[in-house]
Amino acid sequence: MNAAAPLQSPAHVLVVGGGGRENALAWALCRSAGVEAVWVAPGNGGTAELSGCRQLPIPESDHGALLEACQEHRIDLVVVGPEAPLAAGLSDRLRQQGIAVFGPGADGAQLEASKQWAKTLMVEAGVPTAGFWKANSRAEALAALEAQGKPLVVKADGLAAGKGVTVAETMEEARAAIEEIFAGRFGAGDGASLVLEERTHGPEVSVFALCDGEQMVLLPPAQDHKRIGEGDTGPNTGGMGAYAPAPLLDQAGLEQVRQLVLEPTLAALKQRGINYRGVIYAGLMLTESGPSVIEFNCRFGDPECETLMPLMGPELATVLLACARGQLHNAPSLTISGRCSACVIAAAQGYPGEIRKGDRIDSQLNSGDDLQLFHAGTRRDEQGHCFSSGGRVLAVVAQAETFDDAFARAYAGLGQVHFEGMTYRRDIGHQVRSN
Ligand code: AMP
Ligand code: GLY
Repeated sequence: MNAAAPLQSPAHVLVVGGGGRENALAWALCRSAGVEAVWVAPGNGGTAELSGCRQLPIPESDHGALLEACQEHRIDLVVVGPEAPLAAGLSDRLRQQGIAVFGPGADGAQLEASKQWAKTLMVEAGVPTAGFWKANSRAEALAALEAQGKPLVVKADGLAAGKGVTVAETMEEARAAIEEIFAGRFGAGDGASLVLEERTHGPEVSVFALCDGEQMVLLPPAQDHKRIGEGDTGPNTGGMGAYAPAPLLDQAGLEQVRQLVLEPTLAALKQRGINYRGVIYAGLMLTESGPSVIEFNCRFGDPECETLMPLMGPELATVLLACARGQLHNAPSLTISGRCSACVIAAAQGYPGEIRKGDRIDSQLNSGDDLQLFHAGTRRDEQGHCFSSGGRVLAVVAQAETFDDAFARAYAGLGQVHFEGMTYRRDIGHQVRSN
């Protein structure tokens, strides 16, 4: 057999989703070698003004319309941003029509969509993760909690938009979290299920593996800031800022994560007949006894993606296509900048609770090679004015040789944007800053 011809880069790319992650993906794909045009469905106020990028007013849940758009625009590669369409089988539907998709099918998306399924896979694969108990009824869950006699971490089984986890401090709190899940707060009601987990301790870090079913490419580790308040206080959010590469994991540490966590996970997926072509996002806790998986996601993290995309070389689109086609062995190496990247989120007043929406966004910020403004929850009206429309509104990202300089640049950029009620943390990256 002849050696396979080198992989062509995709000319037409479709990004599915409408948040900050998708704005960053569309931006990076527009800059990739060989890409002529990027479509985003449904996109947001930021993707609407990105040069080389076109909007399609199709919701991520309308798989039929997305398929038609792929055919109409001769799309060579679809990159699916959020977990919901992945869990609902969008990749399967498009692949059945011969379209290359970066993002797992519904089978592989269970890594994120079912905590019970993911925990079982981890145990089978020997992947380090906290001890756990599964429960499929309220009585079973309460009995398991009482048998342990200590407050455990309570996790709703299905997709819960980042809100299904309670790290209980007391037995009372753990019981209340169980009651809430079986009262149907996260869907399924009486038919709900959950995982109770041992509490582990240590700093958290996110690692992303771009997979083609057999092989993988790792991105630099990133650290997210989940709490709304400075000093890591207050309720959990989707993420208020991030930085990369996180020095918590050096090259040797990242290699260890590859060997202990990511390769065994991909092998276990394959053993189940799952051809996983997309990102495995490992949310890790670095415990005294080594890395432990807190959660797997089947997509890029947000705001980790905004932080990482500016570090990606021009091969990105070709590498994602190689993953989609099971051909990483035939792809160019992905060049990744060694610079420090810093990302700060500007959220709406009230986030992560009841939010204020519809405020006009004013920006003097000029995006460039070292500074980017990505939109998350925004929309543009017919006159081209931009308004806030979600909890996380904007992401300002900057790169420099040091984290001090990268954060100084990002915060200076944030000073050039304004909307009523704009809320942000001033201490993002405190772990790596000297000021
Ligand atoms: P998740 O929604 O799975 O990302 O969980 C939200 C947050 O809960 C994580 O980022 C951790 O801070 C915390 N968490 C989850 N599982 C555990 C655990 N086993 N021990 C301690 N904290 C945990
Ligand atoms: N930044 C956390 C997440 O995307 O789940």
